[in-house]
Amino acid sequence: MNIIVTGGAGFIGSNFVFHMLKAHPEYRIICLDKLTYAGNLSTLEPVMANPNFRFVKADICDRDAVFQLFEEEHPDIVVNFAAESHVDRSIEDPGIFLQTNIVGTQVLMDACRKYGIKRYHQVSTDEVYGDLPLDRPDLFFTEETPLHTSSPYSSSKAAADLLVQAYHRTYGLPITISRCSNNYGPYHFPEKLIPLMIANALADKPLPVYGEGINVRDWLYVEDHCKAIDLIIHNGREGEVYNIGGHNEMRNIDIVKIICKELNKPESLITYVTDRKGHDMRYAIDPTKIHNELGWLPETKFADGIKLTIQWYLENRSWWETIISGEYQNYYEKMYSNR
Ligand code: NAD
Ligand code: DAU
Repeated sequence: MNIIVTGGAGFIGSNFVFHMLKAHPEYRIICLDKLTYAGNLSTLEPVMANPNFRFVKADICDRDAVFQLFEEEHPDIVVNFAAESHVDRSIEDPGIFLQTNIVGTQVLMDACRKYGIKRYHQVSTDEVYGDLPLDRPDLFFTEETPLHTSSPYSSSKAAADLLVQAYHRTYGLPITISRCSNNYGPYHFPEKLIPLMIANALADKPLPVYGEGINVRDWLYVEDHCKAIDLIIHNGREGEVYNIGGHNEMRNIDIVKIICKELNKPESLITYVTDRKGHDMRYAIDPTKIHNELGWLPETKFADGIKLTIQWYLENRSWWETIISGEYQNYYEKMYSNR
């Protein structure tokens, strides 16, 4: 089985590459990644010498490069993780989000149509459903919840989902889509909530909580997400959408307090800053469908996963210190000074 994994040098994609090489040692995994600011080749260091792994630096929007790779590899499956993924960046500058997340998806699917494919899997997000009110804890996102996006990021992901469904209906492309809640774990880029708070706390820097910190996210350990996608590409029904989430809703402020406690840092580091524009209040996934059809259940409880994650950041300081000492510093300055 030949599998092209796009965005495999990023957070979830790299964890997926590691998972697949371990779970299916007979498969060939080809990682296609543009290596944007969020992609890090050093993450893939441990598998570079594996004869069943190949890394190709390319942009999913580059039709010639993508078609050339399909010509060479004739993949059975494509799993598309490649995306611009950070909501705050999309609010600053939406253009690249539309280009990569929508046009890139189209280019990949055109290659799938030309060369033939057993499955094209689109990695999507719960953010396509918009948000839920804080005072209705009985409400959850199901696969039937209408798309109702808030940010340029989530709008670009929803547009891609619609395009994927259109390619299924119009051209019969064998697709699946997964919509997952917030992931956390190793190799999470330090611009996102959990790694940012760990890095800042370790440096005794202010912990910038947006608004009142009462927004709720539904956190899932990244390995559980990877296992769900593995199940969907093998056993999921063609044309279907699967929600992925672990019923683990938490307020941002409570997450930050846990990180302070685990690192033995004072809560006085917490600083409330100007809220994100259009900030979604609550995400909560109903994962009944993937549980009933594919037997998937999350395996890592948040209490364990957050400890594992903090331990990983303590043991792999050079990975994230290299990132935050480079170009990322300019981003941090722009987003957080005078906020
Ligand atoms: P990430 O930002 O950490 O990684 C994205 C990767 O895609 C990087 O390696 C980057 O170099 C690559 N990339 C970006 N543009 C590219 C292009 N034009 N061509 C080729 N490669 C390109 O993202 P992530 O958090 O790992 O998210 C991966 C996917 O999962 C995204 O599609 C995202 O929408 C989705 N998702 C993320 C979460 C989450 O909590 N992080 C939850 C649900 C869904
Ligand atoms: O729900 C899935 C989505 O989760 C994915 O589709 C996105 O790719 C991924 O980035 C993530 O989006 P969020 O916007 O939820 O994640 P982020 O880590 O940016 O923020 C989590 C929450 O924490 C959100 O309510 C904003 C808040 N926050 C974030 C940062 C970076 C802060 O309060 N302070 C911060 O400095």
